[in-house]
Amino acid sequence: MKRIGVLTSGGDTPGMNCAIRSVFKTGVAMGLQVMGIYHGYKGLIEGRVDYLTHEDVENKMHKGGTILRTARSEDFKTEAGIKKAISVIKAYGIEGLVVIGGDGSFRGSMELVKRGIPTIGIPGTIDNDMGYTDFTIGFDTAVNNVTNEIYKIRDTMRAHDRVGVIEVMGRNCGDIALWAGIGGAADLIIVPEVPISWEDAANRLEQNKLRGKLTSIVMIAEGAGKAEDFVKYVREHTDVEIKATVLGYIQRGGNPSAFDRVLAARLGERAVELLVEGKAGRAVGIRHNTIYDVPLDEAIEIKDEFDSKLYELNEMMAKF
Ligand code: F6P
Repeated sequence: MKRIGVLTSGGDTPGMNCAIRSVFKTGVAMGLQVMGIYHGYKGLIEGRVDYLTHEDVENKMHKGGTILRTARSEDFKTEAGIKKAISVIKAYGIEGLVVIGGDGSFRGSMELVKRGIPTIGIPGTIDNDMGYTDFTIGFDTAVNNVTNEIYKIRDTMRAHDRVGVIEVMGRNCGDIALWAGIGGAADLIIVPEVPISWEDAANRLEQNKLRGKLTSIVMIAEGAGKAEDFVKYVREHTDVEIKATVLGYIQRGGNPSAFDRVLAARLGERAVELLVEGKAGRAVGIRHNTIYDVPLDEAIEIKDEFDSKLYELNEMMAKF
């Protein structure tokens, strides 16, 4: 193998640049040329390919976003799009590909693997919704970002004896809400994995008020509903004073945490090693602090398990 390519796909995450750097440095150390594919699968179809250089990856470790840009490509879901992508890969003499992204991006990788392109997936999504790996790149940073915001919101809620409801990202996964909720001492965490009715949740806030706890923080994962809807319900059914905040994209930007940088460096190295070892169609991940790999199709299939113990821990602490 002489030349490999790397792309980022789907939602960007802090730490993607560290993974790109690791792929580049490992590739160079193993005597490979490394090409950057810009704008994900969309860019691959359009032939946006160029050599990566030391200057490209230099001084980018600490930057959020992705130097390769990213995209969600509809064209790549069509046979014609995939064919075009493969012809670009062949035209550039790319013999192996590293894809950094979430489960949608891994599904795209499978299409390439099926058509004979050796491809390795690196998990990059703030959602942490990939069951085969304990952590995805970007999750830790997003949790840190959210936790920092919780304390700002708590300050002003406390000043007014209000309840603050904070909606966070995560698609159908409650991990950001759960981890940031614990880090930010939330009084109630509403996630898709543990359904709770608006009525029960509102009762909890009323009970808090009755026992003299006037300020509460409620975390709500976007997959469990909208902060505004819950706030409206509480206003209509209780006399609790309540305000909603939707954190939005500030969760996904900013400097990657040290944890995400190290994780990205480790995963990037292993991805390139696998390509050189001739092991195509695999996803790298981390289990019990050990980097390992599984077939890409398994990585997509393994269901993400919600950490109920962590959820129960917060429930217990919220009671007292
Ligand atoms: O998958 C990452 C994520 O940030 C989700 O948490 C969120 O629902 C979604 O992407 C937002 O997508 P977009 O960047 O297309 O608005």
